[in-house]
Amino acid sequence: MGDSRRHLLAVGDLAREDAERILDTARALERSLDREVKKLPTLRGRLVVNLFYESSTRTLSSFELAAKRLSADTMVLRAVGSSVDKGESLRDTALTLAAYDPDVIVIRHPHIGAPRLVAAATDARVVNAGDGKHQHPTQALLDLHTIRDALGRLEGVSVAIVGDVLHSRVARSLVEALVLVGAEPVLVAPPTLLPRGIEAIGAAVSHTVDVVADVDVVYVLRMQAERMEAAYVPSLREYTALYGITPDRVRPGQVVMHPGPMNRGVEIDARVADSGASLVTEQVRSGLVVRMAVLYDLLTAPGLHVAAVPELEVA
Ligand code: CP
Repeated sequence: MGDSRRHLLAVGDLAREDAERILDTARALERSLDREVKKLPTLRGRLVVNLFYESSTRTLSSFELAAKRLSADTMVLRAVGSSVDKGESLRDTALTLAAYDPDVIVIRHPHIGAPRLVAAATDARVVNAGDGKHQHPTQALLDLHTIRDALGRLEGVSVAIVGDVLHSRVARSLVEALVLVGAEPVLVAPPTLLPRGIEAIGAAVSHTVDVVADVDVVYVLRMQAERMEAAYVPSLREYTALYGITPDRVRPGQVVMHPGPMNRGVEIDARVADSGASLVTEQVRSGLVVRMAVLYDLLTAPGLHVAAVPELEVA
């Protein structure tokens, strides 16, 4: 995984066997969620630092819980309220935290490349929890886990990724991850919300929502108002009319996913979000076990076979 298997900065750090090993580890770890005592001793004495320069509910809470469930010590540093407010640089912040000898630094940052800077400045293993519009690799892995759990396979599964692709690190990471495991992504968005040349990373492209009828998975993206410096659609009402995922656009047998947080009534109708087709809650649950698996993978012998995992002693 990653440079010398030390970091998870982008989906491109992963070979197919890496992704499959992490998903198999996550599946094995899933069994621990149903036990009365859920904690495993695997990472006892290790330190996982969560360094978040952007808001987060799912990613931060799941990394925190994942580390705790594996018995690691954890620290959270949110930029707001820290010395970042006084102008401390990312490098100095990373060097300060490195003084505590963390084994892993999980970082979310609005600027592309921030996780790589932390990886270069410290001896910790670094996990990218989202950098600008660039990458969110653990989101992609948890989405693969969710799809495999729901459909029983990944190879050949068709996935329509609908909405604000332009501003979405989730879309970029997910397309790469789907291609890696032999699934078939199609991006569905108005031309203004698609990065130029996006086809090069292996997805088909459609400007009309009709193609959604032909896929196994409808993956809805959040309209990212906070990353839009200009008007990319005439109005949200028009966007919803043309691309919003409403009950009439979901056929029986399809599953619907959304990375969260959802703008109900904009990119996804509440009736779809709350329907039996929705895997949104399953995605959150997958986030916990997949992030446990990523920490486990980074901090144990590279390539350690998943068969070792179920035998982990309960603390
Ligand atoms: N999907 C996702 O990254 O959610 P959060 O922003 O809540 O972490």
